Amino acid sequence: MMKKIIITIDGWSSCGKSTLAKQLAKELGYIYIDSGAMYRAITLYFLRHHIDWTNNEEVQKALENISLEFNYNAKSGQSEIFLNGESVEYMIRDLVIAENVSEVATIKIVRDFAVAVQQKMGKKKGIVMDGRDIGTTVFPNAELKIFMTADISVRVERRFKEMFEKNPNITIEEVKNNLEMRDYIDSNREVSPLRKAEDAIVIDNTHISMEQQLKFALNLLEENK
Ligand code: DC
Repeated sequence: MMKKIIITIDGWSSCGKSTLAKQLAKELGYIYIDSGAMYRAITLYFLRHHIDWTNNEEVQKALENISLEFNYNAKSGQSEIFLNGESVEYMIRDLVIAENVSEVATIKIVRDFAVAVQQKMGKKKGIVMDGRDIGTTVFPNAELKIFMTADISVRVERRFKEMFEKNPNITIEEVKNNLEMRDYIDSNREVSPLRKAEDAIVIDNTHISMEQQLKFALNLLEENK
């Protein structure tokens, strides 16, 4: 059997990172970890408990009460994130979370907390993790690093379709504004901004199919052996 490795997938919001990560995990029998879900679940906790996240002490106390884990749901065939024992996988996809998560993800102690959990999950290798700083900060020594990108119009369309199914009142404008705002905050924050790791390989999936992107990534793995 091939030696288990760590695969990191970073990139802009809604450019297909999780789709590729899930495809690879399935193909290789690896565990898929959605690091963005952790920042989203922390944001949900802060909103529910009216945490003032500009106050570091308050944030520190709140983090002490947060436990995050992923569990496989056999019914949906997907792994789901649990916040203090409750599955919040669907709730964290709401626009209100998307509107606040990038700001929460700029906070250093929040990032330190999430990165520590992520690094622990990578101890045994055999994982595919997607996010913004996985190849740069979380696993700088990962064996395969991918950086994904796609045209903004394609990304808006994809995210709109996804969100419209849950909320038919949502508009294209709202989705576009949110994506642009998150890209801006994620790539301009002080701590671990979104960057392509020097040794990451770029996949632009504006014009390629899901099958093609998987094939491309599997070829990278072959070359990597
Ligand atoms: O991948 P996503 O859209 O679910 O991520 C939600 C937000 O979380 C994203 O706008 C920035 C933040 N994030 C981060 O800062 N670092 C990560 N590794 C993953 C996500």
